[in-house]
Amino acid sequence: MIFVTGGAGFIGSNFVLDWLAQSDEPVLNFDKLTYAGNLNNLAALKDDARHVFVRGDICDGEQVLALLREHQPRAIVHFAAESHVDRSIHGPAEFINTNINGTFALLEAARAYWSGLPEAEKGAFRFLHVSTDEVYGTLGPDDAPFTETTAYAPNSPYSASKAASDHLVRSYHHTYGFPTLTTNCSNNYGPYHFPEKLIPLMIANAQAGKALPVYGDGQQIRDWLYVSDHCAAIRRVLADGRLGEVYNVGGWNEKANLDVVHTLCDILDSLKPKADGASYRTQIAYVKDRPGHDRRYAIDARKLERELGWRPAETFETGIRKTVQWYLDHPDWVADVQSGAYAKWVETNYFNREAEGSSAA
Ligand code: NAD
Ligand code: DAU
Repeated sequence: MIFVTGGAGFIGSNFVLDWLAQSDEPVLNFDKLTYAGNLNNLAALKDDARHVFVRGDICDGEQVLALLREHQPRAIVHFAAESHVDRSIHGPAEFINTNINGTFALLEAARAYWSGLPEAEKGAFRFLHVSTDEVYGTLGPDDAPFTETTAYAPNSPYSASKAASDHLVRSYHHTYGFPTLTTNCSNNYGPYHFPEKLIPLMIANAQAGKALPVYGDGQQIRDWLYVSDHCAAIRRVLADGRLGEVYNVGGWNEKANLDVVHTLCDILDSLKPKADGASYRTQIAYVKDRPGHDRRYAIDARKLERELGWRPAETFETGIRKTVQWYLDHPDWVADVQSGAYAKWVETNYFNREAEGSSAA
């Protein structure tokens, strides 16, 4: 079996669902179920014996080691993290705790387990660390996209904590010969994306008749990748990646935030027109920018293509339509994740922001 951390979050749950759709190899899904973890994402696996869910914290190395010894996985795929940049600005401590201390505790438990394996199993074992392009910092308009050798220059507490975890993973390979693989991926989107992030937030707010809050001038660029393409890349790297190597994963889909929001409005205008006939674009509101906001991310994913033959299957145009349709088809999922602590987060992040932004679109 494989041991997945953070498999109840956005990418982790897509990964577990895709994995079990393509393979009968069981998954032990280890997740703390923070605000971002949601077992409803995995409802399709409720009666599936190939999926074993255990609630726990990666900072608890003893629990992880006991589970590894009990279930004897051949690989760990490590998604668990605090993942939202804005939350890291309001409260960095949890990011340091989970992303750095948690990855350290996980590495220690995994190394202890791996050291005790018989030679053949030891040789086959893999630890795949899922990371982000944000560790490379920000690009100017004419800079070449990030490669695997771009110097680290993280700019937010989130990306700094992910950078620290990447360095720990690297050091475990270099020092102990621990069999690591690292992927650094660009912005994902698709089903089960928590509506604190740009794309699902805009889809939810648009339908609720609320403002669509664009930070600053909306000209920041992200390189969007449909989540199932990220999952496929991880499967390829896990199967055939070279030990100790880093692989960048990206969609060759650079888009300015405002263009993404316009696209979402246009798709909603056609799939679910507003009763008054106006475009959803009329709800766009420019708000105060994110502090330290990275201007542009772009990934050079040629190493992954050259070595492992991976390319994204979805274009932005196909992926974004599927995504909007998924949200229209799953209002109950959105309503469920928006209950509870979600309202408090919206208050924390957006209170005062609208008043301090520049004029509306
Ligand atoms: P997410 O916030 O949706 O999910 C994170 C999951 O980790 C949740 O299920 C949560 O309960 C769990 N978790 C958090 N702290 C934990 C802990 N201490 N112990 C165990 N479980 C814990 O995140 P996501 O967007 O799915 O991102 C998954 C991974 O991919 C992260 O490592 C992130 O840095 C990386 N990544 C994300 C993106 C993106 O666009 N979302 C892009 C590149 C890389
Ligand atoms: O690049 C990979 C990263 O992508 C991942 O490592 C992170 O886990 C993931 O959250 C994502 O980070 P971003 O900060 O790029 O994603 P987010 O959806 O928060 O924001 C995307 C862009 O949209 C960013 O430039 C900020 C802007 N934005 C975001 C929100 C929530 C707005 O303009 N308005 C908003 O309300």
